[in-house]
Amino acid sequence: MKKILALLLAMSVIFSLSSCGTEENRENSGIVSEETAAEKESLETETASSESEPLEMDGENAKEAEGSNILIAYFSWADNAILEDEVDAVSSPSVIPPGNVQQLAGWVQEETGGDLFSIRVTAPYPSDWDECLARANQERGDDARPELVENVDNLDQYDTVFLGYPNWWYGVPMALLSFLEQNDLSGKQVYLFCSHGTGGLANSVELITNAAPDAVISDHIFDCYEEEAASSQEEIQGWVRELGLGVNESEANAAEVRRISVQFGENRIICELNDGTAADTLYDQLPLTIEVEDYSTNEKIFYPPQSLNTGDSPLAQAGAGTLAYYEPWGDVVFFYGDYNENPSLFELGQVLSGVEMLSEMSGTITIEVIESSDM
Ligand SMILES: Cc1cc2nc3c(=O)[nH]c(=O)nc-3n(C[C@H](O)[C@H](O)[C@H](O)COP(=O)(O)O)c2cc1C
Repeated sequence: MKKILALLLAMSVIFSLSSCGTEENRENSGIVSEETAAEKESLETETASSESEPLEMDGENAKEAEGSNILIAYFSWADNAILEDEVDAVSSPSVIPPGNVQQLAGWVQEETGGDLFSIRVTAPYPSDWDECLARANQERGDDARPELVENVDNLDQYDTVFLGYPNWWYGVPMALLSFLEQNDLSGKQVYLFCSHGTGGLANSVELITNAAPDAVISDHIFDCYEEEAASSQEEIQGWVRELGLGVNESEANAAEVRRISVQFGENRIICELNDGTAADTLYDQLPLTIEVEDYSTNEKIFYPPQSLNTGDSPLAQAGAGTLAYYEPWGDVVFFYGDYNENPSLFELGQVLSGVEMLSEMSGTITIEVIESSDM
């Protein structure tokens, strides 16, 4: 305990030094840089107001919306700050709406047609940078669960949830944990997006996974540096399209998305198959209960009962998480490490979630189709 307190104290010192220190200090601490203010200046002066305003639909409206199965829940400081008339935009660059994550969430909403839900606390944070850091640090040390203004009361309607957040103190704002504990995402497909300083995603994914252990959290995470958030519309909307959830293609492709689950023991890995002929012929053989074997230091393999038709299939070319077929031996390969391309190695698809479990896979596995109604 003493060690933890000492660590927190040391981190407090680092953070407060960095917040009033040089750019280099801030870079080292992995937090917000003051340059952000200059980049966002024009936007901020246009949008500054005494109230923070979610981009499209607030939580109340989202609750009333009907039809969409996609929820975009996000936390952003700008939606959770006490904004006084004289906010110092230099020391508190991201506090003036639109916040970085708020902007990203708006673009996801635009691309998916889903419903926006802003996670808001009943006691907003100070708009002063140092004070906000101090309170966030205190909450983190206390493992607090800040009270929320509201929860999503029609959660059953959604089977896909985009969850957006900033990195706060090498993790997530504690209100995100309040949200996850009060809004059960079990069984839902969750996609994470994050804006951060130089600290990157840090421990955020682990914290979210622990708070929502039964959610299907995709490894395809969108993250961007705070200074690039305001110019990330194309990137984040491209990411949404890659997931097959763009407003146009999600309807058009709904029938084409083919996901499979790979179960071993208590573990479940989700993969998405591509539209090649090899993937078609594997898909046609499901469900399969089969023995998996180790091969080399980066492969788990099995031999499907019938060989796959590689007639019109892409070659495998990505890193860990690729599902492939090696034609000369007739084996299907889960790669959990990098591999070399090979003219006989065809890609079948990619692991969407659970890639970290691949190296542990052994014994009998069961591979099944995930029906589109369960996605
Ligand atoms: C209280 C607080 C703590 C932060 N801690 C970190 C951190 O540990 N690492 C990091 O890279 N960025 C950190 N940041 C920077 C934010 O992650 C970054 O500016 C993000 O883009 C803010 O998004 P928002 O405008 O939607 O709140 C912190 C910001 C705040 C306000």
